[in-house]
Order: sequence, then structure tokens, then C-alpha cells
Amino acid sequence: MIVAIDGPAGSGKSTVAHAIAERCGLTYLDTGAMYRCVTLACLEKGISLEDTEAMAQIAREVRIEFGTSEHGQTVILNGKDVTADIRTPQIDRTVSVVSAVPEVREAMVVLQRAVGEQGSVVAEGRDIGTVVYPNAEVKVFLTANAEARAHRRAVQREGKDAATDSSATADSAKEQQILEDIRRRDELDSSRSAAPLKPAEDAHHIDSSSMGVDDVINEVIRLMEEAR
Ligand code: DC
Repeated sequence: MIVAIDGPAGSGKSTVAHAIAERCGLTYLDTGAMYRCVTLACLEKGISLEDTEAMAQIAREVRIEFGTSEHGQTVILNGKDVTADIRTPQIDRTVSVVSAVPEVREAMVVLQRAVGEQGSVVAEGRDIGTVVYPNAEVKVFLTANAEARAHRRAVQREGKDAATDSSATADSAKEQQILEDIRRRDELDSSRSAAPLKPAEDAHHIDSSSMGVDDVINEVIRLMEEAR
């Protein structure tokens, strides 16, 4: 079975997709991490963000692997653990530019489809239900308002988890900065011409703004059972 979970940054896709993979024994595919890896590789090589051909070349060459550690999934880029390096504010700001390049997307989609051919997958991203796996048995478009998403990200950056601790707070100036970044990234991700963030016609919409993470997970599992 293929489960596609799309939605904007901070909507809770990672938490939900990861939990479903664990509970239901599916492979978890974090496609955002793949675009982050290409972005990191471009920055490390000093490639200009205007040189789309050089970015595409990097996307075709990178070796991206996923592993596990006691803290969860690890991301390995060309043999090096980059789990933390791909989640910096610098990568947050640059990844929208790199992921908007059509040839970069083509290279990533090839890798993503290869994972789907190996067995059951729960994949999260922006174009999973529309481009990567248009025939996915379950498609979810997970949203939340920008304030709720910024709050979750800010809490996460401080090492806490808003999903399990609803009273967790974060530094308000930092939260405001994250909110601005999220709004800018939403705008870029939704307005780009190559595979913009938009729901598949047959996607189930779930708004997680005021839902607990367990309720979202249970709803997706219910949809999976319905699709069997
Ligand atoms: O989910 P995330 O925040 O880790 O994603 C990082 C960036 O990658 C995000 O700005 C949009 C892009 N992305 C994409 O264009 N297509 C995907 N399938 C996944 C992520």
C-alpha cells in the first residue's frame, strides 16, 4: 500500500507519517529531507542558486540514504550523517529555491518512485499524491493555520514537542521569525510552476490546527483500513 501525505511546512506530516510507518510496518519516506540534502550539497559545493544546471547535476549525483538511531530517523548524504545539518535556518531559507528547479525535482521523483516499487510506503512531501504516486491508495492533504505551524516548529527547535506537550512554549521573537519564514516558504512552494503545493483531487483534507496528533494518526489509519 502507498500512503501519500502532503501539506505545508509544520502541518505535522513528519510526526504523523513516521508514526504510521512504525505502527503499520510501512517504509517511511521523508521527501523534504531529500530536497534538503540536495540544497546542502549545493551550498557545500558553493554553487550559485541561479545556476540551475549545476543544481540539477548535483541532484542527479547525490547518494541519499536513510538510517535509524535512538533519536529516530537519520539522513545520510554521500556517506555522511547530515541529520542535523539539513535542518538549519540557512537550509530552511534556501531549499525552496533548489526544490523549484524542475530538473532537480525530476531526479528526486525517480528515486522516490524506486522506493515505492520496493514495497509499502508512507511518503510525505508536497507533490506525493499529485506527481510522485498519483495512484496512491490513500492520499491525505494535511494543513494547519500558519500560527499553529510556527508554534510547533519553534517548540521543536527548543527540543520540546508540541504534539505531546500542548502547554509547551517557545521564545516569542523566534516564533515570530519562524512564522514569517513559514509564510514566505508557503508562498514560494504554492506559487512555483513545477509541482506546486496543492492537494490531489482525490485527497482527504485534514486540518490539524486544533487536533491532537493521535487523532490525526487514527484518522489516517481509518482511511487506510477503508482503502484495503
Ligand atoms: O517538508 P520539509 O519542510 O522538510 O521540506 C523542505 C522543502 O522541500 C520545502 O520548502 C518544500 C520542498 N519539498 C518539495 O518541494 N517537494 C516535496 N515533495 C517535499 C519537500
